[in-house]
Amino acid sequence: MIAAGNYAAFATACLAALSACDGGRQAAAHAARQIIPAPASLELKSGRFEIADGTRVWASDPAARPVARYFIDLVARTRGIRLEMASTQDTAGIRLALAAQAGAARETYDLNVSSHGVEIAAPGTPGLFYGTVTLWQLVTADGADSGPTAIPALRIADAPRFAWRGLMLDSARHYQPPAYIRQLIDWMALHKLNVLHWHLTDDQGWRLEIRKYPLLTQVGAWRRPAGAAWPDDPDPATGRPPLYGGYYSQQEVREIVAYAAERFVTIVPEIEMPGHAQAAIASYPRLGTGGRPPVSPDWGVHDYLFNADESTLLFLEDILIEVIELFPGEYVHIGGDEAVKKRWKNSPRVQSRIRELGLADESALQGWFVARLERFLNSHGRRLIGWDEILESGTPARAAIMSWRGTEGAIAAARTGHDVVMTPAPGLYLDHLQSDSPDEPPGRPSVVSLADVHAYEPVPSGLNQDEASHILGAQLNAWTEHMRLPERVTHQVFPRAAAIAEVTWSPAATRDWSGFQARLPVQFARYRRLGMAYADSAFEPRLRLSPGSSAERLRVELAKQAPLGEVRYTLDGSAPTAASPGFQESIEAETGVHLRAATYEGELPLSSELAATLDRRFLNLRTGESLKQCTGSLVLRLEDDAPLEGERAFFNVDIVNPCWIWPNADLGQGGTLRLAVGQLPFNFQIGADADSIRRGDARTAAGELEVRVGSCDAEPVALLPLAAAALDPAVTVLPPLRIPPRPGRHDLCLRFARPAIDPIWAIQWVELGD
Ligand code: ACM
Repeated sequence: MIAAGNYAAFATACLAALSACDGGRQAAAHAARQIIPAPASLELKSGRFEIADGTRVWASDPAARPVARYFIDLVARTRGIRLEMASTQDTAGIRLALAAQAGAARETYDLNVSSHGVEIAAPGTPGLFYGTVTLWQLVTADGADSGPTAIPALRIADAPRFAWRGLMLDSARHYQPPAYIRQLIDWMALHKLNVLHWHLTDDQGWRLEIRKYPLLTQVGAWRRPAGAAWPDDPDPATGRPPLYGGYYSQQEVREIVAYAAERFVTIVPEIEMPGHAQAAIASYPRLGTGGRPPVSPDWGVHDYLFNADESTLLFLEDILIEVIELFPGEYVHIGGDEAVKKRWKNSPRVQSRIRELGLADESALQGWFVARLERFLNSHGRRLIGWDEILESGTPARAAIMSWRGTEGAIAAARTGHDVVMTPAPGLYLDHLQSDSPDEPPGRPSVVSLADVHAYEPVPSGLNQDEASHILGAQLNAWTEHMRLPERVTHQVFPRAAAIAEVTWSPAATRDWSGFQARLPVQFARYRRLGMAYADSAFEPRLRLSPGSSAERLRVELAKQAPLGEVRYTLDGSAPTAASPGFQESIEAETGVHLRAATYEGELPLSSELAATLDRRFLNLRTGESLKQCTGSLVLRLEDDAPLEGERAFFNVDIVNPCWIWPNADLGQGGTLRLAVGQLPFNFQIGADADSIRRGDARTAAGELEVRVGSCDAEPVALLPLAAAALDPAVTVLPPLRIPPRPGRHDLCLRFARPAIDPIWAIQWVELGD
């Protein structure tokens, strides 16, 4: 018997020491190590079983037949093998057997492969489903697209470490179509993830149809996005200005919930209260404390809160009734985070309500609010879950906590007997980018790598066994402020979801980063078969150029983030393949040569291709993301708001102090500076931090680019007015700007003086030429 943590090592040793293992055993070991998340235990046996067109799948119980049908369809669409549903038991095939087992969890399964057939036995349909997912991984372990496959004889006895293996999707900041939500659920299920926490309401959009209150979606699901590029001219079809958004009808939600149930994914809906309520208040201003705000185009923490009138609580309970009807799972998430109390403090109506209820202050009012809704949910057979702020005002006894502000909330909650889901920022926040590659989409540039997620331990240290039993599991959070398009969600979620799957499913002692990496080439092949726009960030070759031994030559370095795989390259214009030369540390190449490179592990690609024509200009060119940020107070990678259709530029910019440094620029001869710049909408609600935003002293109506040498506090050595660039909503290449010579190398400080904080000017690239 090979414990799960050792089976990758066994397979590797087997492959390395051919004398110790015969070829069949090698292949068996290879196939057996292609399972993500790693199973609790795996025992390789001798023999193998061939799965081919016509192999029959028998489900012993009517309840198991949908699982069998799902498996047959999955194998057809991802491996090109046409299995058949058996109407009578056939021992020489694949058998799914529901077998009651006293005390066994419903997600447990046993998978036995012998030379006679395959049997998956489980006490419940979830276990059968997970058994077929594992079998699918064995069937797809060879990375092939068609033809029969032989899977090794083995026994896997498997069960999850945690009950909550989750992903949160924010559909409020950006709406994703129902077809995408279904795809995401399918991909989650193939990682044995079982909770989709669906963030359906926020300041920027209300996405769930509520029959009793239609304005929530007629008004609340639509906004005018920030930025000058968005057209305000009326749409000829409607006579109204175009708006951006969307919502899920109850019929669509029912279909999504049913689709998820077939894949053993429970959807936990989140209806945010009392904060993050601006879209609801835009729809029904009587729910707020005065004023009719727009559905917000901004990111950040907004101060619109629901008031605490009895009529508002009844309104929210009406909403929860419809939510409960749509979502059958145990938990309903009521948000509770970032409810800044400014409007409650300033509202005479809320203040009198606080007095009427005999409460001490606004924090106690939030506690009362949560307790009232928890009683309501409990009386309808549901449990409340909320962000960890709900701990601050007396958490109701049965409420569960989602710990996002570090782990203190989790520890406090578990010690007081509350169940907890771990989802701390930044480590499990998928809006953080997974590398510093220029190919990354918008997001938060401080990196949360695949390795970081894989190393995450959900049980905080210091909890005793009883307290630790309150940790239900963990989830990744896909906040979508910076994920405008569904494919960007996929990029941010996968493969980091494979890492959280291993964290939440596999036994803690088996965690093995190099073993996990070794399973990724085949996992990526599966992703390609599933049509997923996954991220190859961990294995993407990154190019660095430096001067070569002569003016016509350049030194080329190619590096990648994770160790697995070899970068293969060509210099003759041909596409790199698994047989191309492996890149060793650095090479010298002639300028003008076309470099193409990609990472491979054996025959399987681990990255997409990097292509570049080697040019000395690159030595004197810096992309925005490769410049140093002057302070780094609140750095984001933001997308231009223009053009509306097609590709938009991305910029790394500190929204509090947009300022960049080119360290050690060679200014000996002086030079000509060329820059490409863009203007980004300032659409951030950042409270008092807004007071510290640097604007500089603009000298002209549109402001100027300011260039300083040595220090950002020095007098500018050059200025360039932005009037012409201000007319272009997309990227503008500014006219050349002469920099006076100064002996040696100096930091070049680049920033903009502007009359207002909106727009933010940002640098896409800068070049220092003759
Ligand atoms: C959160 O990130 N505001 C839960």
